Amino acid sequence: MKNVSKTKLIEGLNRDLADELGTICRYIQQAALARGMFGHEVREFVKAEVTDEVNHALFLADKIVTLGGTPAVKPAPFKELTDPREMLEHDLELERRAVTNYAERAGQAEAAGEIGLKVRLEEILADETDHAEEIVRLLGGRGGD
Ligand SMILES: [Fe+2]
Ligand SMILES: [Fe+2]
Repeated sequence: MKNVSKTKLIEGLNRDLADELGTICRYIQQAALARGMFGHEVREFVKAEVTDEVNHALFLADKIVTLGGTPAVKPAPFKELTDPREMLEHDLELERRAVTNYAERAGQAEAAGEIGLKVRLEEILADETDHAEEIVRLLGGRGGD
């Protein structure tokens, strides 16, 4: 029988999976819609990052099944934008939210006794941190906001 902490962990991983699916959809749309010279930068960025997000989604879906759950198939909603700078600002907000969510999830994994999963979630957290930092660079900032 599943304990409460494992059930909560599966629910959280499913929200993370929906977020990853939303990010994949968002990056594909942004790659296609971004226009102009800055849009070219956005296009190069999202095309490079989307592979990481696909790998995160594949990992989460496998892990949810391993833990006894069923993977989510609906992407989380996102803003559909055409201005490249607004796209990146939205992306930055959601990449930072992902960092926060994976920190919470790593804590839940540890509480559920899933130490290997905790380490993998921290690796994903590090990827999302890299994504956020790259966006800050593209937006012309230096971090610290
Ligand atoms: Fe991701
Ligand atoms: Fe990301």
